[in-house]
Amino acid sequence: MEYDEGMKVPGVHSYLHMAADPREHARQRLIVALDAPDVTSALALVDRLENTCAWFKVGLELFTASGPAAVEPLLAKGFSVFLDLKLHDIPNTVAGAVRSAAALGVKLLTIHASGGPAMLAAAREAVAGTANPPELLAVTVLTSMDETQLKSVGVHRSAANQVSLLAKMGLDAGIRGFVCSPLEVAELRQMTGPEGVLVIPGIRPAGGVVGDQKRIATPADALNQGASYLVVGRPITQADDPAKAAAAILDEMASAC
Ligand code: C5P
Repeated sequence: MEYDEGMKVPGVHSYLHMAADPREHARQRLIVALDAPDVTSALALVDRLENTCAWFKVGLELFTASGPAAVEPLLAKGFSVFLDLKLHDIPNTVAGAVRSAAALGVKLLTIHASGGPAMLAAAREAVAGTANPPELLAVTVLTSMDETQLKSVGVHRSAANQVSLLAKMGLDAGIRGFVCSPLEVAELRQMTGPEGVLVIPGIRPAGGVVGDQKRIATPADALNQGASYLVVGRPITQADDPAKAAAAILDEMASAC
């Protein structure tokens, strides 16, 4: 994937043709999490957004229910898709799944860093051989894993140290994209430099409902700390007027961009 030499924003793909207009630029960096049980309800939400947003994240719930049929209509409408499958299996199996996802035409795809260097290298080699390679994003430590949870799976270092270890391993395996919480974005930006593609969930507009998210940041904070893309779910999808909620987030992003 080529980067624009003149790119000012770290980790934002030049293939998105970043607009000079800050509002359009913000629109190309906001990903709406389509956490819906089926394709019909997902597309109903997309319609309610009235083209306010350009990116959608299809996760395990929707993809398990509807498979590629959840991705195809989004691409047909001209949206960009982040397929959040968090792949974790033996290298050969992950490589095959990565090729299948690339063939769908998605632009971002998650794999688990804890699958190890061989799995990450197999995934990277698999995308390199495809016509439209998605950017691979390694998931380091899930935000649901606190230190007690980590200990119970045999990890005795802090969550922050484990994130750094896995991120370094990912970089060594040639992966430059990561999903991380707002608390880790500044550290990961330092580790990756400007080429890192950092995708950040846990975003809550100032004064918004926090829900079950713990490690959160406002859109402006996350961008200022080095985020490439922001993932926002419920503050948009559960709003009475999703298009209006998305527009308010885009305004906040535009003033921070
Ligand atoms: O509704 P909310 O804005 O919390 O949604 C965030 C989205 O990002 C969900 O799809 C969730 O699964 C995902 N996510 C997250 N925290 C992570 C990784 C992914 O919230 N650490």
